[in-house]
Amino acid sequence: MPYNYTSGGTAELKLGDATYQLPILVGTEGEKAVDIRKLRAQTGYITLDSGFANTGSCASSITFLDGEHGILSYRGYAIEDLAEHCSFVEVAYLLAHGSLPTRQELTCFSHMLGKYALIHEDMIRFFDGFPANSPPMAILSSMVNSLCSFYPEMLDNPLENIDKMAARLISKVRTIAAFSYKKSMGQPLVYPRHDLSYCANFLNMMFDSPVQPYVINDTVVAALNKLLILHGDHEQNCSTATVRVAGSARVNLYASISAGINALWGPLHGGANQAVMEMLQLIHNEGGNYKKYIERAKDPNDPFRLVGFGHRVYKTHDPRSRIIKKACDDVLAALNIADPLLDIAKELEEVALKDSYFVERHLYPNVDFYSGIIYRAIGIPTNMFTVMFALGRLPGWIAHWKEMWDDPDWRISRPRQVYVGPRRRPFVPLDQRAG
Ligand code: SDX
Repeated sequence: MPYNYTSGGTAELKLGDATYQLPILVGTEGEKAVDIRKLRAQTGYITLDSGFANTGSCASSITFLDGEHGILSYRGYAIEDLAEHCSFVEVAYLLAHGSLPTRQELTCFSHMLGKYALIHEDMIRFFDGFPANSPPMAILSSMVNSLCSFYPEMLDNPLENIDKMAARLISKVRTIAAFSYKKSMGQPLVYPRHDLSYCANFLNMMFDSPVQPYVINDTVVAALNKLLILHGDHEQNCSTATVRVAGSARVNLYASISAGINALWGPLHGGANQAVMEMLQLIHNEGGNYKKYIERAKDPNDPFRLVGFGHRVYKTHDPRSRIIKKACDDVLAALNIADPLLDIAKELEEVALKDSYFVERHLYPNVDFYSGIIYRAIGIPTNMFTVMFALGRLPGWIAHWKEMWDDPDWRISRPRQVYVGPRRRPFVPLDQRAG
């Protein structure tokens, strides 16, 4: 076994008169898996697991989640410690390289991020081709994919200079995001500055203007660092799994990340942070009647779901949501903002967590429930909230893409299926088809 699994004995599978022994693998945090990698060859059977709720796609050393106990760690470090003590750049290095950087490593990495902050001037003309109201996530995935054209060397050897490519992407995605906002506002682009930190640079590119210089607020910079850290990685979530599936065909990093950006866009996934704010705004506009929406969420005949609630893995509080909720109070107090949507969100949480529908289904606020409150307080428009999620998740996607390429167990992702369509039938020529 190429990973540091430990053996958990074997599982016995009886199929008809035959009995099969399947190895049990145990991960470093005690997670147990029945190894079915030879199941079809041995038995002719496959397994079926829609949404992969019970299926592990790989071994990974990047992030550990314990959904029953609300535990999250990156490379063994608790998310609470990282959010409290680190910058986003430190955590991006940790995710991509596997260890917290030394001071020298951090300086070197920060220098690379500064060096690669510009995008090719020819790329800036792409913005003019997008209609004014283009969705920022569509722009982001298109621009990231187009980066392959400006760095064709990665097409021949996707792994060559991977650390440089990763730093280049982490820096340029920040610039692309800010430029797309400026373009949408019809304002002049603000270029990155070498003297500003990662988050301060982003905020300056977003909000500085020739007629009103942006004053960098340390509280806002700290809040943005915390938010990006909390979005850094989350093991095999939908968008990360998409990056791995695309990358498993041995496509380059930028194309794989572009695929992940599109998966994240979904309202059930990263798009939820925008949908939460739209839901809270709707409730506010209707006089704060959140109970109506709780009843709608509980109605099996109503497709409405309480956005920002529920999670495939967490069956207790999402630890990130707790940290963000506290940060909301701190940031709004520091900026002297009173946001009625935060009050609605808190009341919604309090009522839902006492309601048997949510309690029985273990539905708690997830990472998206409160994050938009802070983005809004910072001044980021709602339609860019999922772009902010992508900015934070990028180091995690890169780490998983790299890990997959290094995986001795790697194979192209190609799930099986159970066919339930028509049985074999004779062909009918066109002139003999009824109707
Ligand atoms: C993210 O995977 C990750 O790690 C993702 C993420 C990350 O960091 O990458 O954490 C980020 O995507 C967070 C999730 C953001 N999405 C939302 O907030 C959208 C609202 N949430 C739901 O759509 C739902 O909870 C999911 C998509 C998050 C999880 O879906 P599952 O695991 O497939 O759960 P399910 O649909 O099987 O629901 C189980 C039951 C159902 O009721 P019953 O059929 O048993 O009666 O719970 C109900 C669901 O109807 N339910 C909800 C609900 N979420 C689940 N009912 C009302 N409101 C909700 N939000």
